[in-house]
Amino acid sequence: MASPLRRLRRILLGACVLVVTLVIAIAGSVAWTWTSADVSTVGTTEFTQPLRIPPVADSTVDATGTRVFSLDMRTGTTEFEPGRATETWGFNGSYLGPTVRAARGERVRVQVRNQLPEASTVHWHGMHLPAAMDGGPHQMVDPGASWTPEWTVAQPASTLWYHPHPHGATEDHVRRGLAGMFLIDDAPSARLPLPHTYGVDDIPVIVQDMRLRDSRLDGTHAIFRDIGFLGDRTMVNGTRSPYQEVGDELMRLRLLNASTARIYTFAFDDARPFAMIGSDGGLLERPTTLDRVRLSPGERAEIVVRMKPGERTVLRSEKLEAGLDFWSGRFSGADDTFDVLELRAAPTLRPSAALPQTLVPPSIPDGTDSVAERRFDLTLAGINGKRMDMSRIDTTVTRGTTETWVVRNVDGMPHNFHVHDVQFRVLDYDGAPPPPELTSAKDTIFLPPNTAATLALRFDGPADPTTPYMYHCHLLWHEDVGMMGQFTVVEPGQQAATPPGHAHWPCHIDAIALNSSRSEFNTR
Ligand code: C2O
Ligand code: CU
Ligand code: CU
Repeated sequence: MASPLRRLRRILLGACVLVVTLVIAIAGSVAWTWTSADVSTVGTTEFTQPLRIPPVADSTVDATGTRVFSLDMRTGTTEFEPGRATETWGFNGSYLGPTVRAARGERVRVQVRNQLPEASTVHWHGMHLPAAMDGGPHQMVDPGASWTPEWTVAQPASTLWYHPHPHGATEDHVRRGLAGMFLIDDAPSARLPLPHTYGVDDIPVIVQDMRLRDSRLDGTHAIFRDIGFLGDRTMVNGTRSPYQEVGDELMRLRLLNASTARIYTFAFDDARPFAMIGSDGGLLERPTTLDRVRLSPGERAEIVVRMKPGERTVLRSEKLEAGLDFWSGRFSGADDTFDVLELRAAPTLRPSAALPQTLVPPSIPDGTDSVAERRFDLTLAGINGKRMDMSRIDTTVTRGTTETWVVRNVDGMPHNFHVHDVQFRVLDYDGAPPPPELTSAKDTIFLPPNTAATLALRFDGPADPTTPYMYHCHLLWHEDVGMMGQFTVVEPGQQAATPPGHAHWPCHIDAIALNSSRSEFNTR
């Protein structure tokens, strides 16, 4: 046989072997990545640390009756592992922040100071307040600067929270430790026989996932994690492996998912039932008995669990059942499980009053007077196909009206949807009436792939045509890369204007032509 032919055959054979080896190597590393992508701390957590309870924020009341708080955004170090310091950020401390507490009807003012090396904001998640006080990406506070929002608390007793909202860096700032609870009290809830002694039978449970590498907080996104940052363990109130001593028969846990991307399915290790009494925007109409509750980032649930003398039970997070496919489920953390918090009952417990049959009347619109219906289609590429633009107002709503928003996840990965300023009612979830845990005031709703929710939202003002509120996916990396839009509340007949500092000039070419039509550009 001619030797060139033999050479060609050898070359071809060699190429084949190379290709096959490459394919095996790639498949092998993908398979390895897949099998090593799930994490679990179930059964291996020792619960050695007493749960840290964030202090209630100090306040003073000024001559006008305004309650004044101070929140300093700082850098510091935190010992997550005994004897090893980790650099963290916090409010008035090194990690997380104090629990801010105010009553309905009170005027509050918060002196926010930014002592961080970068600009940030403080947003009051779940709060109904003027847009200029909202702390979204238009209220940036430069390093060394302060910002002093002021508003009147005008909503029912609820478990809200605060966290930074700088566009493009929210995941990073929250993950470093900037978050805290904001509790609202009111007379109707105070009259109910519910556990309400803070830190005793009424416990803040701020759940976050984290990962340490050489005692540093590691915020890198592992490969294939379209969901954003996922940690390899959880902590509560900044405490790893936490336990809480229980001295009362009934314990109220205010669960807050303050993680940047992780979705939890909370349940007890012995599958004991518990009562859910509150949701994002306050108490439910009546307690509902559940054995699990799912919270996506930003969502809250107030639950009450009954303990027997001397027993222990562990709050867990179980696998996520959200119809995710094999691939996106694994890389969204759906297969992960965590031991979150151990409750340790004393040998004798103080008796607790039985839970009331009814809690509070509904505070949210039923949608019957809705004046507009809008659609919001969610994908990682943006909302309704558009990426966030600080200078574009996506939606203008009229003060005092109710609207119906149909929000759909049209993507292959999990998302959720959070709206600033309002608490909404879920009219329909995944083609059915909402389950009991979604029947009360919500500001954030989880949407698995191919799921739609119909929401009724009432915009009670005040109007501010130049300052938008945000709606967005609260998986914070998704928000950072542009899954966010802006809405403005205006008086009837008024138009939204371009937010100040973000005047939107398409380019410099036609400056003169644009000049003549400036008013059009300013009132879009
Ligand atoms: Cu909790 Cu727009 O945020
Ligand atoms: Cu918010
Ligand atoms: Cu998302």
